[in-house]
Formats: sequence, structure tokens, C-alpha cells
Amino acid sequence: MKNLISILDLSLEEIDELIATANDIIANPTKYQDICRYKKLATLFYEPSTRTRLSFEAAMLELGGSVLGFSEANSSSAAKGESVADTAQTISCYADIIAMRHPKEGAPYVCAQHASIPVINAGDGGHNHPTQTLTDLLTIYREKGRFDNLTIGFCGDLKFGRTVHSLIQAMSRYTGIKVVLISPVELKLPSYIKKDVLKANNIPYVQTTSLEEVMPELDILYMTRVQRERFFNEEDYLRLKDSYILTPEKLKTAKEDLAIMHPLPRVNEISVAVDKDPRACYFRQVLNGKYIRMALILKLLKEAGRI
Ligand code: NCD
Repeated sequence: MKNLISILDLSLEEIDELIATANDIIANPTKYQDICRYKKLATLFYEPSTRTRLSFEAAMLELGGSVLGFSEANSSSAAKGESVADTAQTISCYADIIAMRHPKEGAPYVCAQHASIPVINAGDGGHNHPTQTLTDLLTIYREKGRFDNLTIGFCGDLKFGRTVHSLIQAMSRYTGIKVVLISPVELKLPSYIKKDVLKANNIPYVQTTSLEEVMPELDILYMTRVQRERFFNEEDYLRLKDSYILTPEKLKTAKEDLAIMHPLPRVNEISVAVDKDPRACYFRQVLNGKYIRMALILKLLKEAGRI
């Protein structure tokens, strides 16, 4: 049975198919409105979420299915000490597919080992977030029309930002990709990703602390929030949280067709004055997240023989 734990669980052909399905859903929504009737999505969220959980729920509802689940660990039996493995077996008795977010790296993988229904990783600690990456890929496709020959700047918390880790994995499979890593020294991309992903795929990359210096080169600027919940002390967070604030002023040297992306939530790192700029695509990105999750639910339920 197919699960989605890492973006690398999908081949490039499968990603193309998901993007084609999402584009077809956008063009013909009524064609899809009953496909998942009587099917249930369980959302098991042990960590806060707005977009990921609600876009999964909206996606299932728009496919004609229904949704059950919990949105905080304390309201589930995790608070009584139940293991992820036992929860996985239990939920398999109630639902057709699971979306799980968990603070521990690898928890959705453990869930998939014990579930008898498909499991989707909706974010595991500071590790991976493959459905945000599908959202980002659909956005890149719709904004830029291609996945190759792009210079992508990742700015902010590259150490703990799981969306960055998964998107770098995904983009490293295309040709002509250049990566620009913009972060404070303390929040640099983990060296295992540089070695196993960027170097292993011969992706040229540079590391810098200055956003202004690299702005003119970028085709895509992927801004991120400093991940407060993964810090060991509040002092470090307070010192680093406003390292980068994107303003209209700083965008003056940027390309006219730059795509400004952000997985959201935004804290301070993009001034609201940037929202009016046509290059700001983070709210279009939110909408894309619902459509690509519809496509993903369809694919996994079909492959599991459930629709
Ligand atoms: C991201 C996450 O949860 O990793 N949010 C999201 O799913 N869109 C990014 C973040 O929390 O900063």
C-alpha cells in the first residue's frame, strides 16, 4: 500500500500526474464532487495547524467524503500514554485514509507501519512536510510554468524548517536548479541535507546571511518563519526571530517575474505591504494546497482499492 511519508516516495511521473489532476480539479470541480462519497479521512494532529489540517478537511469534503479526527494531542488518548502504533491500528478500523502531524520526527512512518490504510505525513517535527511540498510544486508550476532552470532562494529558519527540507529534496531532482541558502549562521541548513541531497545531486548552492545581496538573481524567493517551538531557549528565538523582514523596498532589485512564496503562517518576515505586490503568491499557494491534497487523496485511495 502506498503512503506519503517523504516527497521522495513519489516519482517525478507521479508528481506530474498529481499536478495534472489538481489542474483538472481547478478547471472542472463538479466532476470530482462525489468520488469519495462514504469515505472518511482521519486527521490526527498532535501539533498546531491551520492550513494543513483545514485544507485536508476541505479537500475531503469537496470530494464528497467526510472527516473525523483530533486537532491536539491532549484531546486524544496520547494524553493517556497510547502509542502511535496502537492509535494507527485503531484508526484503521474507523477511516479510509490518515493524515498525521506529529512533533516527533518519524512518527508518521511508524503510523504507516501499523496502519492498514494509507498514511500521509502532514509534518513531522523539524524533518519533512511532503504535502506542503506538493502545494509548493503546484504553485511553482502555475506561477513559473516549469520546474527546471530556476534559481531558488530559501530564506529564514533553514535549520528547523521542514517545508524547506522537503522542497529542497523535491527540487534537487530537476535540471538547471540553483539553490541560494539565506539564513543566520545559527539557522543554517543541516549538513546532512547539504551532503545527501544537494551535493549528492550536484546541485550548485551558496550560503549567505544577506538577502539583499542575492535578491537580483532569484526566480523564486521562499520565505520562512523562525520556528519558535523547536528552539531550546526563548532568548535565542528572540535574538533571531526578526533576522529577515521582506519589504517593498528590498524587492526593488528583484526580478519582475520573481515568485514570492511562504508556507505560512507568517509572523514578521514579510511586511503586509508586500501582499499587494503581484509577485506575492503565498495566498494563491494556500488555495493550491487544497487542490493538490484532493489529487493526493484520490490517488492514494485508488491505489488502496478504496474508491
Ligand atoms: C509549515 C509547517 O507546519 O511546517 N506550515 C504549514 O504547514 N503551512 C510552516 C511553519 O509552520 O512555519
